[in-house]
Amino acid sequence: MISKVCMVTGCAGFIGSHLTQQLIDLGHFVVGVDQLFTGYVHNMKGFEDHPNFKFKEASILDEGLLEKLKVDYPELDVVFHLAAIVSVPYSVNHPELTLDTNFEATKIMHKSAQDLGISRFIFAGSAAEYGNEERLPVREEYATDQVEHVSPYGMAKYKSSCLIEKSGYGCSLRFFNIFGPRQDPASQYSGVISRFVDFGLAGKKMVIFGDGEQSRDFLYVSDVVDSYLIASGLDPQGRGPLCGIYNVGTGNGISILQLAESVSKLTGGPSEIDFRPERAGDIKHSRADVSKISEIGFSPQVSFEEGLAKTIEWAESS
Ligand SMILES: NC(=O)c1ccc[n+]([C@@H]2O[C@H](COP(=O)([O-])OP(=O)(O)OC[C@H]3O[C@@H](n4cnc5c(N)ncnc54)[C@H](O)[C@@H]3O)[C@@H](O)[C@H]2O)c1
Repeated sequence: MISKVCMVTGCAGFIGSHLTQQLIDLGHFVVGVDQLFTGYVHNMKGFEDHPNFKFKEASILDEGLLEKLKVDYPELDVVFHLAAIVSVPYSVNHPELTLDTNFEATKIMHKSAQDLGISRFIFAGSAAEYGNEERLPVREEYATDQVEHVSPYGMAKYKSSCLIEKSGYGCSLRFFNIFGPRQDPASQYSGVISRFVDFGLAGKKMVIFGDGEQSRDFLYVSDVVDSYLIASGLDPQGRGPLCGIYNVGTGNGISILQLAESVSKLTGGPSEIDFRPERAGDIKHSRADVSKISEIGFSPQVSFEEGLAKTIEWAESS
């Protein structure tokens, strides 16, 4: 495959750092952009000095960002746009900044990419675009203008995905719950898995809000990277590229109780659970309909148990 020059926004974040590493491993050149808002320099340890990587500490809100990078890197041909405000509670408290960062900046970057003749534009969408959807599994077409968005985060992601779909240029990958090494346990959004692993390794009881029967669709981060390669047409197996909106998940639901039990078994943490009252606004179940992306040949390669073991191994060593 011909090597490409790619831009990854959010390269110092959880998913962005895995994607960048894989692109470099495949022989591509990556210009990584990150403002280090929720991302960390140490996430880039594996590739920060690699000759095929250049880091630019900048905000996606900076005017003319992509135009300037295209001057410096005329071969720039693929944009992976992951940088975002990722915390739902933060978005509720900062609605304007969230809309600017997660929608307006995407709109501008998407238009610039198209005007500059960049071949591919891949956006990180989210299951939050479906609001409190109760029909399961959740199909791409369930996100409509009628959805009541529970957060500015979900609203901004929805508006961005719609814009991309309507333009016929680019692709939005709607991720469900992603987990794996480098996910920040301190982040309120990142999730339950990294927090449970933290609790388990510290010998603390896991806290569950509600009865623990609520379920989520958990996908391991290397499978997310695979979906990015497919979407961008950089898949070594030749799948893709994709245009439009695609759910990315496993299609299976794992209950929070089941998760807590697995984590406590693997970490040797306490098996008793600290049950707390259900949190208002939490959805009961979330599970992706993955038929659309499965038709292209995407199927998760890492089982939930295997992914959990790798995540715990990383947490123990870091
Ligand atoms: N982790 C998940 O389960 C999940 C699920 C659905 C969607 N997503 C989406 O995937 C993408 C990556 O998420 P993540 O889990 O890796 O989160 P993350 O917080 O680790 O990564 C986001 C990165 O964006 C950077 N960033 C934020 N604002 C910026 C700005 N103005 N300019 C430049 N950089 C900025 C942060 O510093 C961070 O490195 C996000 O768009 C997120 O909404 C993640």
